[in-house]
Amino acid sequence: MTKDSLVPTASSQTTESSSKNGVKRRSFLKGLGVAGAALSAGSLLATAAKASERTGLITVGDVAILRFLAAAEILETDLWQQYNELGGIQDNEVPGGSGSPAYTAAIAQLDGDMAQYIHDNTEDELTHEVFINAYLVSKGAEAVSLDQFRTLPSSRATGAQQTGRLTNLMQLTVDTTWFTRYRSRTQNPDLGDTLPQAIPTLAVGQHTAIPRTDDDLQDPNFLQAIGNTAGFHFATIEQGGSSLYPQLAQRVTSLEVLRIVLSIGGTEIMHFQTWSDKAGNAPPLTDVLDPVTGISVTFPNLNASPLGGEDFQTNLIMPEPTAFLNRKLPACSIIRPTQTRGAAMGALKALTADGLFVGQSRAFFKFMHTLAVEADLAVRE
Ligand SMILES: [Fe+2]
Ligand SMILES: [Fe+2]
Repeated sequence: MTKDSLVPTASSQTTESSSKNGVKRRSFLKGLGVAGAALSAGSLLATAAKASERTGLITVGDVAILRFLAAAEILETDLWQQYNELGGIQDNEVPGGSGSPAYTAAIAQLDGDMAQYIHDNTEDELTHEVFINAYLVSKGAEAVSLDQFRTLPSSRATGAQQTGRLTNLMQLTVDTTWFTRYRSRTQNPDLGDTLPQAIPTLAVGQHTAIPRTDDDLQDPNFLQAIGNTAGFHFATIEQGGSSLYPQLAQRVTSLEVLRIVLSIGGTEIMHFQTWSDKAGNAPPLTDVLDPVTGISVTFPNLNASPLGGEDFQTNLIMPEPTAFLNRKLPACSIIRPTQTRGAAMGALKALTADGLFVGQSRAFFKFMHTLAVEADLAVRE
C-alpha cells in the first residue's frame, strides 16, 4: 500500500510535502483517466491503500466509480434534455428548446403531468452530474467531461435546440423486460433468469422516441407511437440507474462516497417507479408504421388476455417480491438486478444496445469503455 494510491481531500492538511504529493497524486489519476484501463489499472487498484474516513482520503477505486457515474449522469442529462426541449417544460430551471405542443399532447395521453415529470427528471440528472463532478474535484480528482463527443444531430422538429448531442433518441431499440421483471414473483436476472419483453416490437428494429421533423407530427397514430415509445424508454433508462447505483455501492470504500451513491441512487428509483406507472397507461396501438423506416410497432393491451395477470397487469407498479440471493430464502421485494461484478460494463452495454449511441465515434466508445473498466476494477477496501 502506498500513499500515492490515495487522493488528498480539499480539507487535508497542506504542508509543503503533502501539497507536492497532492500534485503527484493528481497527475497519477490523470494518467489513469487518460491512458486507460489497458495499463495496469488492475494492479494499481489492487494496491490502492485502505482509505480511512479519519485521514480524509478517497481511494482510486472510489474515484473510478464516481467518474463512471459522472459520465453516466452526463449521458442521462443529455437525453433528458432532448425530451424536455420537445415534451417537457422549458424554464429557467431547465432551459433550452421551446416545446412541441403536438408531441407534448401525445405524451400527456400517459398522464396529464408528464411534462412536469420530464422537466423534474431532467433537472435531477443535471444536479447529479454537476454534484458528482464537483465532489471529485473537491477530493483532488479529475472531473469528467464528454464535451468533445457532442457530435450527434438534434431533432429537426420545431421546439428542439440545434446543437450537438451525446445521445440519439431517434434510433432506439427499447428493452422493456423491466416491466415483467418487476412483476415476476419467481424470476431474478441475478439468479440467471431471462424475463420476457412487455412490448416485443419495441425491442427489435429502430424506433424514434421524439419527432425527427415536423412531418412526424402529421399522423396521429404514429405520433402516439412515438409518445408511447418515449414513455417506455423513460422507465428503461431509470430502472438502469436504479440497479447501477446499488450495484456499484457494494464496491465503494469511503462512507461518504457510499452516502452519495445511496442518496443519488434512491432518486433513480423514485424516477423509475413514476415512469413504470405511466408506461402502463400507454394507449394500445396495433401495427403502426414508421413512414420513414417502414418499421412497425404494436403496443398491446397489457391488461387483456393473453397478457394481464401478475406478469403484465399495469397497476402492479410496486415490485412484486421475488427470489433474492438464493431461491431457498423467502421471496423479498427488492431492486433487481444488484449483482456488482461487471456492473459498469453491463450498464454501458445496455445503453449501447438501447441505440442511444448510434452514430457515436470510436473515440467516444473507447473513452466510455475505459471508464467502465476502471470502475469495475474498483474493490471495497
Ligand atoms: Fe441520475
Ligand atoms: Fe436517472
